[in-house]
Amino acid sequence: MMKDRIAEACRKIRQERMLFPEVAIILGSGLGGLADSIEHPTKISYSQIPHFPVTSAQGHAGNLVLGFLAGVPVVAMQGRIHRYEGFSPDEVCFPLRCMHQLGAQTLIVSNASGGLNPRYISGDLVVIDQHINFLGQPTRPESVNTTLSRNGEIYHRGLIERAHDHARRNGFSLHQGTYLATLGPTYETRSEYRFFRKTGADVVGMSTVPEVLCAAEMGMRILAFSIVTNVALPDHSTSTNHLEVISWSEIAAPKLRHIVTGLLQELAGPAD
Ligand code: HPA
Repeated sequence: MMKDRIAEACRKIRQERMLFPEVAIILGSGLGGLADSIEHPTKISYSQIPHFPVTSAQGHAGNLVLGFLAGVPVVAMQGRIHRYEGFSPDEVCFPLRCMHQLGAQTLIVSNASGGLNPRYISGDLVVIDQHINFLGQPTRPESVNTTLSRNGEIYHRGLIERAHDHARRNGFSLHQGTYLATLGPTYETRSEYRFFRKTGADVVGMSTVPEVLCAAEMGMRILAFSIVTNVALPDHSTSTNHLEVISWSEIAAPKLRHIVTGLLQELAGPAD
């Protein structure tokens, strides 16, 4: 039973570190460095935790990190699990279910993406307010109703507004847009980029939607960011590679760090 597997994994995590995280953080391609800002960290390799899927994707370390960020107890996935690695939706979401079981009620999730919106350039940061699910299947059958009933309300309006405040305060712009999730693992052909632009999506990537659907099903508050690591140029012959994606992620990571630590500082402060 899934419940038993979650309990077993959480027992091992608590043995390593007795902490009740308020916020779960999933760090996407090239963004794992943010986990190094976590204070008093305990790092546990996914391979040490019963039933955890072990990621093989380049640029994903594969550690669960527990500690404090801006004074708030957090648990972070340094390295995410992708559907394209051959994992089922349940396997992709297993670590998130454990982080929720440990106490996290808020999810902050990040990814690297290709910019479809012609106004976006590499290195831009986008806060996601909608998604288009091209993965072809919901996380679990029972998530369908939850997702339908929360249609348009999956991403937390209040947190999105606060993310904009922190971007302004730090002097950079933050786009707000729609993320289209594909299965991957290949980047898009020019025709696919052209087609995806027509859907109205602003960015395209290969992750995030499975975890977001699962978090919505569990009633978590969700805030999601995308770093634009390449732009779709349907009329030019260009190609994208993983190294380019990771290096742009690393360049843009400080913006994400400013917003996330700013938001967490508010959470740690007196309630308003
Ligand atoms: N397409 C899909 N996923 C991505 C891209 C892209 O162009 N860039 C980074 N992740």
